[in-house]
Amino acid sequence: MAFYHKLGEIPQKKHTTFYKADGKSLYREELVSSIGFSSIYSNKYHINAPTQTLEVKELAVITENLWDDAKLIQYHFLTNRLHTGGNFFSARDLFLTNPHCKIHTAKPTHNPDYFYKNAYFHEYIFVHHGTGKFVSEYGVFDFEPGDQIVVYKGIMFSMLFDDFENNKIVVVESDSPFEIPKHFRNDYGQLTEDAPFCERDIKIPNRLEIHDEKGEYKLLIKYGNRLHEFIVPNHPLDVVAWDGYLYPFAINIKDYAPKVGKLHLPPPVHLLFSTQHFVICNFCPRPYDFHPQSIPAPYFHTNIDSAEVLYYIEGEFMSRKGIEEGSITLHPIGVPHGPQPGKTEQSIGAVKTDEYALMVDTFEPLAVTLNVKNTLIEDYYKSWLD
Ligand SMILES: [Fe+2]
Repeated sequence: MAFYHKLGEIPQKKHTTFYKADGKSLYREELVSSIGFSSIYSNKYHINAPTQTLEVKELAVITENLWDDAKLIQYHFLTNRLHTGGNFFSARDLFLTNPHCKIHTAKPTHNPDYFYKNAYFHEYIFVHHGTGKFVSEYGVFDFEPGDQIVVYKGIMFSMLFDDFENNKIVVVESDSPFEIPKHFRNDYGQLTEDAPFCERDIKIPNRLEIHDEKGEYKLLIKYGNRLHEFIVPNHPLDVVAWDGYLYPFAINIKDYAPKVGKLHLPPPVHLLFSTQHFVICNFCPRPYDFHPQSIPAPYFHTNIDSAEVLYYIEGEFMSRKGIEEGSITLHPIGVPHGPQPGKTEQSIGAVKTDEYALMVDTFEPLAVTLNVKNTLIEDYYKSWLD
């Protein structure tokens, strides 16, 4: 994360005695660190030892259900066609996957009776529809449409929706951390003046919910494609204080300040997060390019080492026909893409766009699942024919 944060009262020095109110029993310090002890970390103080476990059960092996004979073509599919019930974790439908990146959507229809932890993958969660409370050991914050929540692997958390009328999230799992790009930060980690967001735009846990209760609490841990249920004797939210750089946070897409050029600027100017194997960009409403002869729609292009995924949020997308809210297009490595017939001409002279979209550009091919097959717009790859 970009900056140091703390909640609760912490002792003056790390690794020293920190007594509870009785003056005799100790709070239990837990260091949560990344890249061994070499990168960002936080120190949490628990009421109870975080290692206490009553029982561990293997629940399931998660299968990805790949569409094995899928062709090398451009894809358009409608994620809103699926209505898998469940909570923020169990309702997920996987659409696109490679060893480093897994893209799901979910429409939560109830709240879980457990906490969840992803042991091997970091999670990016875009809230398309719905409001509620993000709950974690590091504290809680309220979420709303547009929030892009980043949860480091190993963080125990839950998402509690306020109601179940119309919730939708997009979840992207990554085996390497979601990083704020280096060129957005100065030598001290502070966001630079020309970064598209600043520290004030970052939503962080702002209050602790502390429970000193005994019982049998459920914790689901996903590790790769396997799922464990831990039964633990202490309420999982028993952290009384923490400090450090490793914690969940969110940036709302409506706070992203897009950049505009005299001529069409390529997608890297819309960068939000980078990982070792893919990037996430935010496309937001903005004025178009201001050269008098500029063509705002993108040119045809082939990225020889990137697969492009776009998730359409709202507004009229400048280069695509037939797109609706919740559409995803996949333009895979190996074939070109670009504006459909008429879209280039239509963009000439246009002064602004009201589009909101997410882009995930992966540096390795993505496999498509049967969920893509079942929600597919047939013959999208022929939509460039005049
Ligand atoms: Fe593209």
